[in-house]
Amino acid sequence: MDLDEAIYGRRSVREYTSEAVDEETIRRLIEAAVQAPSATNAQPWTFTVVRDQDLLDRVSEGAKAYLLAAPGGWLSDRQRTRLADPAYHIFHHAPVLILISGLAPAPWVVENCALAAENLMLAAHGVGLGTCWIGYAQGYLNTPEGKDALGLPAEWVPVAPLIVGFPTTLPPPVTRNEPTIHWVG
Ligand SMILES: Cc1cc2nc3c(=O)[nH]c(=O)nc-3n(C[C@H](O)[C@H](O)[C@H](O)COP(=O)(O)O)c2cc1C
Repeated sequence: MDLDEAIYGRRSVREYTSEAVDEETIRRLIEAAVQAPSATNAQPWTFTVVRDQDLLDRVSEGAKAYLLAAPGGWLSDRQRTRLADPAYHIFHHAPVLILISGLAPAPWVVENCALAAENLMLAAHGVGLGTCWIGYAQGYLNTPEGKDALGLPAEWVPVAPLIVGFPTTLPPPVTRNEPTIHWVG
C-alpha cells in the first residue's frame, strides 16, 4: 500500500466481523511494530496477544468499573454514561487485543511503545485489518488486578492496548484541525 494511502486511510475501527485473525498475520503485525525506532535502540516492548473473548469481556468490565471509580473525575458526563451502560464493551467485541507494554518503567517507555503501536496500526490497515487504540483499558491494565488478569509480570508497563480485526465497514474520515505551526526563524 502507498504510504500516503496508509497514513490518510487508517481509521479507528469500532465494528468488527467475527472472523478470526490468524497467528501468521498477528506475527506479521508485530514484526512491523518492532521496526519502529526506540531510544538507544533499546526495543523495550512486549506484545501480549489476547483472543479469549471471555477474558476480554472480564477485562472490559474491570476497566469500566476502574474508570467509573477513579478519583480525579476526568471523564465527561457522556463518557460516564457510556461506561455505565452494561452493553458497552470497551474492546468493541474485536477478535484480538494486542497489548504493547514496556519491559519496565524507564525513560521514553511510553514513546517507544507508542511508535510501535502506530507501526502496527498502519501495517494492519495495509492488509485490510482495522485497529483501535483502547485508552480506556490502560489504567486498569496497570493495576495489580489488571496485570494479573492477563498474566503480566508486575514490572511491565502496559501502554498501548490495540484491538485488531476485520472491519464491518471502514469508518468515514475524521476531520483534523488546522495544525498550530510555530515557525521560528
Ligand atoms: C491514546 C489513545 C486512546 C484512545 N482511546 C480510545 C478508547 O478508549 N476507545 C475508543 O473507541 N477509541 C479510542 N481511541 C481512538 C480515538 O478516538 C481516535 O484515534 C480519534 O477519534 C481519531 O480517529 P481516527 O483514529 O479514525 O483517525 C484512542 C486513541 C488514542 C491515540
